[in-house]
Amino acid sequence: MPPPVYYTNCNSAAAPDGIPVPLFLPNFDLQHLNTLGVPVKAQFYVSVTSEEELLEALRYARNEKLPLFILGGGSNIVLCDDLPGLVVHIRLQGKTLVAEDNEFVWLRVAAGENWHELVEYCLDFHYWGLENLSLIPGSVGAAPIQNIGAYGVELKDVFEELTAIDIRSGLPVTFTRDSCEFGYRDSIFKGRLRDQYLITAVTFKLHKQPHLVLSYPALREALAAHADDAITPRQVSQVICEIRRNKLPDPAQIPNVGSFFKNPVIPATQYESLRANHPQLVAYPVDDQQVKLAAAWLIDNAGWRGQVCGPVAVHGQQALVLTNPGHAKGHEVVALAEKIQLSVFEKYGVALEPEPRFYP
Ligand code: EPU
Repeated sequence: MPPPVYYTNCNSAAAPDGIPVPLFLPNFDLQHLNTLGVPVKAQFYVSVTSEEELLEALRYARNEKLPLFILGGGSNIVLCDDLPGLVVHIRLQGKTLVAEDNEFVWLRVAAGENWHELVEYCLDFHYWGLENLSLIPGSVGAAPIQNIGAYGVELKDVFEELTAIDIRSGLPVTFTRDSCEFGYRDSIFKGRLRDQYLITAVTFKLHKQPHLVLSYPALREALAAHADDAITPRQVSQVICEIRRNKLPDPAQIPNVGSFFKNPVIPATQYESLRANHPQLVAYPVDDQQVKLAAAWLIDNAGWRGQVCGPVAVHGQQALVLTNPGHAKGHEVVALAEKIQLSVFEKYGVALEPEPRFYP
């Protein structure tokens, strides 16, 4: 069993009574804290590395009547303008094995941990289940908000519970899998409870024996030369990292937020009539009534892949990804997204819904 890992607080000045006081920084540049590289400023910024600092930050915002913005890895947000109020950057760290039985381990991970470093950690300790979610940018605390998913696995498949703080009361709350209301790139934290809770830790239920999910076509294809029983979770992770590196731009090199739109789910009847005109249309059945379309295919076949529109662009290897190499303002990225939505709607009659969240 790995020892729990805790990191020391490195951003605090000690108050006379020994309680750490976080530093509140005015007019703080967020360009390097959002993977779209949008140059915006926070009225105030604070980085919190412990729950005490977090509660202190909430108290400060309440006393000063500042609106709050909770920042994780900044990989799924479009900052359209400067942020009024207090940006709280969640940097809580720590992994604790909270329970185990013959089949599973339950691993509690602090919200500020980096997602891919967690995947690597689990591979090292032979806790299986996260391998298909390799190389997804962002933090652990942000992962449940949009129920991150890739290559046949979603966060909800390995999720046990999360702890959060009710922003208004400052009290801790536990959310089970059911109460998170997970859906495709969706949860209660994007809908009904948007911006009301601050996630502090997530507990994962992981397998002790390999439990491979190899159904996704691109993954199957890449592993075709291997017999299923000879494939290891680490190999799956490596293959997925390769596929992602080939198709998706590294946000550290080319600013982006991954898929900019969700894959739209449409009625099966609408799909049938669309397919009559576009036989190559890529789609996946959801159930008897509904079909999920590949938004990338729609955008690509509307002529957008590789298009450069001033400082923003549609990625050449994956039309679902908008890039911001020129560090344009958020509204310029949104303007390109709107042109794409309009053109896809005019050509296919399908509405594309953005996947990242727009602020303020
Ligand atoms: N395609 C095109 N043109 C393109 C790219 C893709 O026609 O430019 C076609 C491909 O041929 C393929 C289909 O579209 O048949 C689907 O493409 P892909 O396998 O790349 O997956 P996706 O549906 O575009 C989703 C997720 C990704 C995730 C991959 C793998 C969403 C919104 N996106 O993309 O998630 O990595 O599947 O599971 O569900 C993210 O959420 O940020 C993200 C990258």
